[in-house]
Amino acid sequence: MNPLQHVAIIMDGNGRWGLKHKKSRNLGHKAGLNVVEQIIKESIKHKIKFLTLFAFSTENWKRPKKEINYLFSLLETFLKNKIDELNKKQIKLQIIGNKKFSKDLNKLLIDSEKKTQKNKVLQINLALNYGSKFELIEAFKKLKKSKYKFTEKNFEKYLQTKNIPDPDILIRTGNTQRLSNFLLWQIAYAEVFFEKKLWPDFNKKDFNKIIEKYKKIKRNFGNV
Ligand code: IPE
Ligand code: IPE
Ligand code: MG
Repeated sequence: MNPLQHVAIIMDGNGRWGLKHKKSRNLGHKAGLNVVEQIIKESIKHKIKFLTLFAFSTENWKRPKKEINYLFSLLETFLKNKIDELNKKQIKLQIIGNKKFSKDLNKLLIDSEKKTQKNKVLQINLALNYGSKFELIEAFKKLKKSKYKFTEKNFEKYLQTKNIPDPDILIRTGNTQRLSNFLLWQIAYAEVFFEKKLWPDFNKKDFNKIIEKYKKIKRNFGNV
């Protein structure tokens, strides 16, 4: 049985789900948020220590303003309403990505991180304005400026995921088999699961099935 510390998820398919069921991409994002809550609960049950959720990429700024505004208003409401509950459950929230949002949202994000920073049950890494290529370039620049040698270990100290073990599992929902600039370095040895279901249709049963499959995989890491 493989140990499981870290699950990363590309939560894709909200827009298509929304158009199909509610004639609105935005309502798909709203539905997707309920699934996030289910998967957080399930992760705690499985004693998973790190859950990384791709919520907004550096490329998602290309979307219509109305959709972007809706996504960030959902996030804001979620944090305002739920951060105390997350805190009670001993969940630590960490943002990965560049916090270049409105003054108010930046403050809310920083306050939420601070409030939960000592929590130990589950760490949620929320990838917001995150892009792996940007992260890698920034890390290269910082390592170059430092006195340290170019080694894998030293390089990882400058990634936004420093002190976080690499994902054991990467899940992408939404019937698309690509990585969309997510954690390109960190998933070097992750077990990858591409799910046909759109994110709002994904449920704890699907999540548990993946975990069961993962546990039985022979992970070689180059060995035999
Ligand atoms: C993923 O769902 C959520 C975000 C990128 C914010 P999409 O909005 O990409 O949904 P589809 O892929 O268009 O259906
Ligand atoms: C990836 O989904 C980003 C998030 C889930 C936040 P996209 O829907 O943006 O990916 P592409 O553009 O289809 O590759
Ligand atoms: Mg998509």
